[in-house]
Amino acid sequence: MSKVLVPVAWPYANGPRHIGHVAGFGIPSDIFARYMRMKGHDVLMISGTDEHGTPILVQAESEGVTPQELADRYNLVIVKDLVNLGLSYDLFTRTTAVNHHETVQEMFTTILGNGYMIKKVTKSAISPSTGRTLPDRYIEGTCPICGYAEARGDQCDNCGNQLDAIDLINPRSKINGETPNFVDTEHFFLDLPKLKVALEKWLKTRKNWRPSVINFSINLLEDMQARAMTRDIDWGIRVPIEGWKDQQNKRLYVWFDAVIGYLSASIEWARRTGDPDAWRKWWNDPETQSYYFMGKDNITFHSQIWPAELLAYNGKGDLGGTAGKFGTLTLPTEVVASEFLTMEGKRFSSSRGIVIYVRDLLSRYQTDALRYYISIAGPETSDANFTWEDFYRRTNNELIASWGNLVNRVLNLTYKNFAEMPAYSTETEPNELDTQLSGKIEQGFTEIGELIESQRQKDAMRHLMHLVQDANQYITVTEPWTLKDDQQKPRLAQILHTALQAIADLNIMFAPFLVHSTQKVYESLGFTGTLSALPVMKEVADLDDASRKYPIITGDYVLGETVQKWERKPLIVGAPISKPAPIFEKLDLAGVEEELSLMSNAVS
Ligand code: MF3
Ligand code: ZN
Repeated sequence: MSKVLVPVAWPYANGPRHIGHVAGFGIPSDIFARYMRMKGHDVLMISGTDEHGTPILVQAESEGVTPQELADRYNLVIVKDLVNLGLSYDLFTRTTAVNHHETVQEMFTTILGNGYMIKKVTKSAISPSTGRTLPDRYIEGTCPICGYAEARGDQCDNCGNQLDAIDLINPRSKINGETPNFVDTEHFFLDLPKLKVALEKWLKTRKNWRPSVINFSINLLEDMQARAMTRDIDWGIRVPIEGWKDQQNKRLYVWFDAVIGYLSASIEWARRTGDPDAWRKWWNDPETQSYYFMGKDNITFHSQIWPAELLAYNGKGDLGGTAGKFGTLTLPTEVVASEFLTMEGKRFSSSRGIVIYVRDLLSRYQTDALRYYISIAGPETSDANFTWEDFYRRTNNELIASWGNLVNRVLNLTYKNFAEMPAYSTETEPNELDTQLSGKIEQGFTEIGELIESQRQKDAMRHLMHLVQDANQYITVTEPWTLKDDQQKPRLAQILHTALQAIADLNIMFAPFLVHSTQKVYESLGFTGTLSALPVMKEVADLDDASRKYPIITGDYVLGETVQKWERKPLIVGAPISKPAPIFEKLDLAGVEEELSLMSNAVS
């Protein structure tokens, strides 16, 4: 048993999240965390809403509210969505928590003290018509690296490189098209070249990352320049040094602060449990494993900026140095980045109506149908395309027709013939088919477990569905419904017991993926207690400012000693089995057309 940290990308609190977002960071991280808990590891899964920077500012302006009001509004929306998806965060908090601000400032001060923050004069863009600073994200132009014509001032969405607005060819304001003026301004830069050797050493020792992620990350080493970690903006965390901390228009860069959220949320979690140092077990022990989940547009910040911040804090770059009060912090074990999800063949775009928000989908469909869809068809290692037709087909023909029907058929037969969990009868010879099925399914724990551990959740789900087929095949071949005579009852008991044990096993293997239905099946089989624990939303006071309240996501997922292990759990012979109700709702295919017309109405 070891400590496993599951840091999950922090969604911007600038709007409701669509299923493309949660397909990338949300559902995969939850599957992994739930599995690791079942394997007996001590898991800490943390995240929160990302509430600083221009993404928030831009949206606040367009909605005519303050950035804080905007962040409050969407933090709540996002918290509800993520709870409804069943994502088992130990803590989901916010970057506007005081604890986060203080953690970020401690990181900055120590990194500065160790010599890895350098002050430089640079150019900042000003709008000629308003005289105000134009943040990088507001500027568009041609990418100096790949030539893409619509690169943003902070990052090119085509080649994925981070950019500085001043390097764009033909820069123009996204607001009104005017050409910005560039004026002198002072900023702090993270001295990446002084951290390059250490970064490279760390990257070269990473094992089993997805090839595209490790290759992208190694490529980043080639052109490492110091990067500005402060901005001319009036929303964000203050720069904690004399002469800067009172300047309204100097703030820390949103990405400098957001990635530190993983640490600050761990600290906040520990403080809330009443053991304020508990977070150290996940951060100061080099044996701890950490798996960071995100979409591919976040790779740079997790395989370069965040480890660079950690190395600089630890004093492990070319200049040496000493760690601050948090001690030596461990670097990521793996950056688990997924690709993009498209919608009916197009990029998600809220403005063009090509979008399906989590809350809308969950108001019309079962959570587990979405969780199944993402698990089997998500953008794990290549871009994936969500279509309504595919969603309906997979729900009806795979989830329900294979798994749902298996459970229902077998429970129905059991209810009718025994009304309790039958023992494997010894009044007749054991059958070879029974041991074959049982052996194959039990082996699934090892095989599927290995796939989940190596971040191959789609293969894991495919394998699981094959085992479901095997169980269905077993029923087809043994034909239990034909065994109607009294003298056939012992064989009937053997078949149903075998099938029910297979269902119980499969249900445990489904548990990380499907959170509501697995609990139902567990109870239908006569087990008591919790198989799949659900997160809860809770209103709390900021730990350092009692006047401020905010919602968090948390939960008790370990359930003392009773957490179901990733292994066979023997059936409780004699447990009452009642008349089963269907575990999934079949979808009416007419819904596909309705969804498509909803989408086209939104476009026109
Ligand atoms: N808010 C960013 C996005 O949506 C992700 C931030 S991840 C963090 O792309 F670690 F930096 F918080
Ligand atoms: Zn580019």
